[in-house]
Amino acid sequence: MKKYIFGFLVSGTFFFSGCYYDVESELYPKDPNQTCDTLNIGYQARIEPIVKNNCVTCHSGSGASGNVSLDSYQGVKDATISRNLYGAISHTSSKPMPQDGNKLPDCDIIAIKKWIDSGHPQ
Ligand code: HEC
Repeated sequence: MKKYIFGFLVSGTFFFSGCYYDVESELYPKDPNQTCDTLNIGYQARIEPIVKNNCVTCHSGSGASGNVSLDSYQGVKDATISRNLYGAISHTSSKPMPQDGNKLPDCDIIAIKKWIDSGHPQ
């Protein structure tokens, strides 16, 4: 949460400092590796917000799409093990997710990959 507030303050500073600094490439760096935090990839801090914002509308409760529940740590973990969640979000499986939506940002896909590879830290 602190990070979001900090990010907000930083963008606010850019905004109010006038046109000179309003350069698109500074506000939105093109290289995702420059800003992609791959160290802090715990479930609660990094993974849950991605899933909440992009997946749970379809993947929660008893009628969860594809019988894949993504509204808990265990559910998301299980989906990465038995339901090819990474293939779905990286669009390398036959069921690209989010269904009918835009592919997740590269940094989110990288974070989920790291989370899986590091043994699903809480
Ligand atoms: C608009 C609704 C919708 C959204 C949003 C959505 N899904 Fe799905 N998802 C589905 C449906 C429907 C299926 C079942 C598709 C099928 O079996 O053909 C599915 C299936 C899946 C599967 C099983 C794939 C397999 O190979 O069996 C996974 C994993 C999955 N979704 C993950 C996600 C993730 C992660 C997100 C968010 C990034 C997401 N979904 C967002 C509707 C959605």
